[in-house]
Amino acid sequence: FLKRRKKWSRYPPGPASLPFIGTMFSIDFHNPHHSFGQLQKKFGNIFSLQNCWTNLVVLNGYKTVKEALVHKSEDFADRPHFAIYEHMGYGKNSEGIVVARYGHVWKEIRRFALSTLRDFGMGKKSLEERVVEEAGFLCSEIKSKEGKSFDIHVLINNAVCNMICNIVFGDRFDYGDKTFKKLSQLFQNSLNEETGFLPQLLNVVPILVHIPGVPQKIFRAQKELMDFIDVVLDKHMKTWDPAYTRDITDVFLQEMEKGKAAEENGFHYNNLRMVTMDLFTAGSETTSTTLRWALLYMLLHPEIQSKVQAEIDGVIGRERPPTMKDQASMPYTNAVIHEVQRYGDIVPVGVPHMTYRDTELQGFFIPKGTTVITNLSSVLKDETMWEKPNEFYPEHFLDAKGQFVKPEAFLPFSAGRRACPGEQLARMELFLFFTTLLQKFTFVLAEGQPRPRVDGHFALTRSPHPYLLQALPR
Ligand code: HEM
Repeated sequence: FLKRRKKWSRYPPGPASLPFIGTMFSIDFHNPHHSFGQLQKKFGNIFSLQNCWTNLVVLNGYKTVKEALVHKSEDFADRPHFAIYEHMGYGKNSEGIVVARYGHVWKEIRRFALSTLRDFGMGKKSLEERVVEEAGFLCSEIKSKEGKSFDIHVLINNAVCNMICNIVFGDRFDYGDKTFKKLSQLFQNSLNEETGFLPQLLNVVPILVHIPGVPQKIFRAQKELMDFIDVVLDKHMKTWDPAYTRDITDVFLQEMEKGKAAEENGFHYNNLRMVTMDLFTAGSETTSTTLRWALLYMLLHPEIQSKVQAEIDGVIGRERPPTMKDQASMPYTNAVIHEVQRYGDIVPVGVPHMTYRDTELQGFFIPKGTTVITNLSSVLKDETMWEKPNEFYPEHFLDAKGQFVKPEAFLPFSAGRRACPGEQLARMELFLFFTTLLQKFTFVLAEGQPRPRVDGHFALTRSPHPYLLQALPR
């Protein structure tokens, strides 16, 4: 490695590297964005790391990240190989979307996901109606707490997870359903299994993943989750009627029927399992974590909560359910939701990219096959782009006349070719769930409890530590 570094005279600088382990001890894998922040101060916006034999380059700040993801989009569009997913069936042509290598199979599957998610918005019961319906179930559950203090985590997870169940399985679960409770728990555990030093080490020393029994022991929840998905998909295939489309799985099954060409484009059973898993993992935790931050910030800033409620009362009233059309008339609420995403910093280090070819960035040379971390946290809190980067300040998204504006450094969904394809759905869920909750309840700090922590817990997403609240009906 040292030899190669010498050869690349304009390779980005970085901390000293130890034999075998590289720079892995320079990073706190339970708080990588903090470690990156410190290294950015020392080495600048582009620095290099080494996980064992794997070269990594970390990009920081709005200008650098935008230049890579938008101006040199294809150079940075690949993903590294994730050995830790192999035990679930991840491999050539069965890579789902999120960690799929850049190429024609990923393009086909991504196009499929984007167009199917869009079409669901136009079906008989639109996605928007389904979110409003789910928000109603969520409010009934909250009401049943009768103003007593409780942790809203599980209920929010259920509501958001049900949206993905709607899309993938064509149906929702009752919150009390045993299978559903198990499913939610498995998601949480599987995210934790992927965080920390060990999974990073397994990814860069894949031989360790192939030791018999290792994946089963370390990734127990992931394995159980995949078994669950297999059971559901099996039932789906048995009850499938090509004349009638229930959900995204049915659309995928229709594609699979098209034969060899479709199979070569990634439309086969094993990839369906991976895509299903991706929609759950990418689509549930991110949105539910954002909503949990949103309520936490409302507890801590009651004056902001009151202003949102005043806008809701003025535009929607107390009875009519909100619709997406209302959003245009509600700049303050919209600004608050965007600020929750910015300050909450839900996916702080994004999803790793990999260079698709040799490339240059701001005078540095980055060879093909280098893992690239886009430090989204450093963009959302970039001191050169935000007036008060380290404060919760909805005015970041309002102009002098109180109209909604979106600064260019707002990149919680990333940018470029691999930008989040679920953004539209997520935006709709965030707006409809948040306004329904604040229309029906005022959220206050639970009496007699310590003030909630504002630092986050990192497990791919950055989520709030558990907190209790009281929901007072309005
Ligand atoms: C990728 C954020 C919701 C599906 C991503 C990425 C980010 C992100 C940062 C990585 C982009 C990159 O590699 O540069 C978020 C946030 C969400 C959210 C903050 C909610 C607030 C959703 C939803 C879905 C979804 C609801 C689908 C139902 C995906 C998929 C990818 C992805 C499939 C992989 C795209 C690819 O590699 O081509 N998301 N996401 N996300 N997201 Fe989301």
